Amino acid sequence: MATLWLARGASAKLCFSSSKMDASSRRSPIFSHPRSLTRRWTAAAATAAPNMECPSVPREQVEVIRSLNGWVAENMLPLLAPVESSWQPHDFLPCSAPAPGESEAEALAAFTEAVAELRAGIAGVPDEILVCLVGNMVTEEALPTYQTMGNRSEGGSDETGASSLPWAQWLRGWTAEENRHGDLLNRYLYLSGRVDMRQVETTIHHLLRNGMEMLVPNSPYHNMIYGAFQERATFVSHGHTGRLAGQHGDQALAKICGAIAADERRHEAGYTRASAKLFQVDPDGMVRALAYVMRGKVTMPGLLMSDGRDGDETLFERFSAVAESVRVYTARDYIDLVEHFVRRWRVADLDGLSGEGRQAQEYVCGLPPKIRRMAELAHRRAARSESRTLRFSWIFDRPVMLL
Ligand SMILES: [Fe+2]
Ligand SMILES: [Fe+2]
Repeated sequence: MATLWLARGASAKLCFSSSKMDASSRRSPIFSHPRSLTRRWTAAAATAAPNMECPSVPREQVEVIRSLNGWVAENMLPLLAPVESSWQPHDFLPCSAPAPGESEAEALAAFTEAVAELRAGIAGVPDEILVCLVGNMVTEEALPTYQTMGNRSEGGSDETGASSLPWAQWLRGWTAEENRHGDLLNRYLYLSGRVDMRQVETTIHHLLRNGMEMLVPNSPYHNMIYGAFQERATFVSHGHTGRLAGQHGDQALAKICGAIAADERRHEAGYTRASAKLFQVDPDGMVRALAYVMRGKVTMPGLLMSDGRDGDETLFERFSAVAESVRVYTARDYIDLVEHFVRRWRVADLDGLSGEGRQAQEYVCGLPPKIRRMAELAHRRAARSESRTLRFSWIFDRPVMLL
């Protein structure tokens, strides 16, 4: 996804849930999912949701972004892989067309054999990993929403759809690379025969219709921070999913997740660099944006996913619980993320800040130990609570046990 201007996800989550968290810990400000928001945005309610206005972006911030086009050309565009040397989903999948000189019958036999091999590989991958894989894939497949959000960023959008400005080139290049992630995972899962593809497709359909909620989608500062967090979260989550798939005997899937994770890593480098540059140019504006993003608990791009059968817990909440349970994305990962960026952007060393800027700095720097304490508390509570079972239509309602 991940995912340009977003945050918080298993393929996209900065926040997390504990698989066995009790009711009181679910209500804590750090751990809670914005349930009311999710409810408001169920498929049935989407059209009735209120329109929230975006705060206006200070003109000087828009000008700062515009002034960085040359910097983007030098420091971000080289991070995009040239098309000619990029991997494509087909490189990882059985070939369905005849090779030169091969007959239709030979091609079909080779394809059938390759599909059987793929199915044998994924046969040992447990359902809980499949759920994570589907959740990641569904989030990746809502890419049109993310590009739309990216294009709302003032000063850095693609005004014409084919703009030659470096920010616009980055957005389109990023989108093109991301597009392969959903394609590849979708086709792999289709061929695996392990998932109910109609239910998965229905979920993607709902997610695209529901969209995503972002705190300040038109603010370039917020978007850059969002992007850095999001790409690192997806790197971690795809990486962990791949490692688990490999441990259960599917080396092909491990390779696929590894290739996707490597993309997310490059994207993370882009947004992290851009944020670092902005911290140099406008430390006060950026530290206030960072605090705002952290206080808002960054809604996830996949938050509004639905298979049309949501019960007491939303599909996203259940998916996140499984991801936490199998350690595809955990509280620990979230804390690492926050600590990493606070360190990387040298937030503690920023000086010359306004009063509001200093308050934001203090808040952000105090966040990692605070989250760690809450995570430990939730972990202890979870250890005392009973295991539970969840069912997902994505895998024909087979039970998944949360450990
Ligand atoms: Fe992605
Ligand atoms: Fe990415």
